Amino acid sequence: MSEIETNNHPCSEGVAIIIFGVTGDLSRRKLMPALYENALLNHLPQPFHIIGFARRPWDDQKLRAELSDGITNYARTQPVNEQVLNKLLEHTCYVESPFEEPAGYTLLREILSGLGVKNILFYLATPPGAYATIAEKIGQSNFESCRDGWRRIVVEKPFGHDLISAQALDKTLHSVFQEDQIYRMDHYLGKETVQNILAFRFGNGIFEPLWNRNNIDHIQITMAESEGVGTRAGYYDHAGVIRDVFQNHLLQLLSLTAMEAPAVFSPKAVRDEKVKVLNSINVISGDTALKNTFRAQYVSGTINGARVPSYRDEPNVAPDSVTETFMAARLFVNNWRWAGVPFYLRSGKRLPKRKTEIAIQFTQIPLTLFGQRNLAGEAPNMLVLRIQPDEGITLFLGAKVPGGAMRIEPVEMRFSYAEAFGDSHPEAYERLLLDCLQGDATLFNRRDEVGEACHLTQEIIDAWETQGLENQPIYEAGTQGPHGADDFIMRHNRHWRII
Ligand code: BG6
Repeated sequence: MSEIETNNHPCSEGVAIIIFGVTGDLSRRKLMPALYENALLNHLPQPFHIIGFARRPWDDQKLRAELSDGITNYARTQPVNEQVLNKLLEHTCYVESPFEEPAGYTLLREILSGLGVKNILFYLATPPGAYATIAEKIGQSNFESCRDGWRRIVVEKPFGHDLISAQALDKTLHSVFQEDQIYRMDHYLGKETVQNILAFRFGNGIFEPLWNRNNIDHIQITMAESEGVGTRAGYYDHAGVIRDVFQNHLLQLLSLTAMEAPAVFSPKAVRDEKVKVLNSINVISGDTALKNTFRAQYVSGTINGARVPSYRDEPNVAPDSVTETFMAARLFVNNWRWAGVPFYLRSGKRLPKRKTEIAIQFTQIPLTLFGQRNLAGEAPNMLVLRIQPDEGITLFLGAKVPGGAMRIEPVEMRFSYAEAFGDSHPEAYERLLLDCLQGDATLFNRRDEVGEACHLTQEIIDAWETQGLENQPIYEAGTQGPHGADDFIMRHNRHWRII
């Protein structure tokens, strides 16, 4: 491709994306590479302006150099096409300003008016503490006086620290933007394999009739990471795994697994169905929350042959921190389809590998037919949606071993994304950025979804706080997680799948 051409994009009269907090990692590692990939495919509207807004004393040149570096290092398609890169960075400028300073927004408005751009996408890539201030300042700065067009805002999770602050943030956002202008980002929803949950369930007739309490014993959703808290302790030590991923990624995976088919594939219909699932989850609080959750913190151990430190020894973690880095929960979706089927959710940092999957364990069949124990296991049928890495789907079956005796052993039927579609597919941010440029909010969280998820989570956090722990239960980095998590699931005669 010789250059980025103007195309038939719905916002073909141009867009400016204003990235607040452009100097941070999110912008360098995710947003810019995603914009670049879209530019490479000629998917960006033209003209496309990128305006960075942050506190650091950078200028336009420095911004371009940093963004170029981010793209060169993190773009999915390598080597980077210099022509596309330069074209993308040509329309870039930097506003140096504290987020609370009105002068910065006045300058921003002048730049936008000068560019004559119609459509504006505000992107909050800052620490969450700055969201409300930025939204307020946008509201006070009269961006409506720029050319007529759409205004949208992307907000990264976490949407508030607790229920009260989430509600306050929501109120501030709504004092400036309408709900259909607010794009709450949960990047899990942009993953191909997560989008495939609905394609798999509703595009194939054979599993849906089994997808209910009559045929399913339980569901296990695992999001394991081998990485520790890295450089993000400032945020993570106040969030813990419950706010960081349980409240959003895990509950989203649960919703997609459990929801009914939407009447049409529209943002409203899909999100209506997801919110119904969240609404149907039995809220657990007090003692019930304590009995149905388990949390722990990692201590030093070995991962891939390398020693890694304890959570409490990570930079910027309080030495007496009781923040959980692992949690497991048992939830019930109390509706016609799912009543009585436990959903086990778990996530942790510093587990042996990075692995996200949804395992659907079907019920045991009556095994008298073969007059012997089924060697394939007590309940051989399990369907595993492999979200990442090694993306695909596995169906476990019992099969007769060739030979005279009736011996049944477990076998696997596997679908692999890489084998079927090749290795390289769009990153979540590529899809999600394009969707908000095109005004499609299907893969973004709606206000009521966030409200339900926050409510559910807050009850658990409140129950945990009553315990007043001085130390969390621990697990050694690189192991399968805390022993207590095994006891937790074995109470109900079930086992975690090996990570
Ligand atoms: C983020 C969390 O939302 O998701 C991180 O804040 C986590 O703590 C990350 O590491 C995992 O994302 P992915 O796409 O690598 O599974």
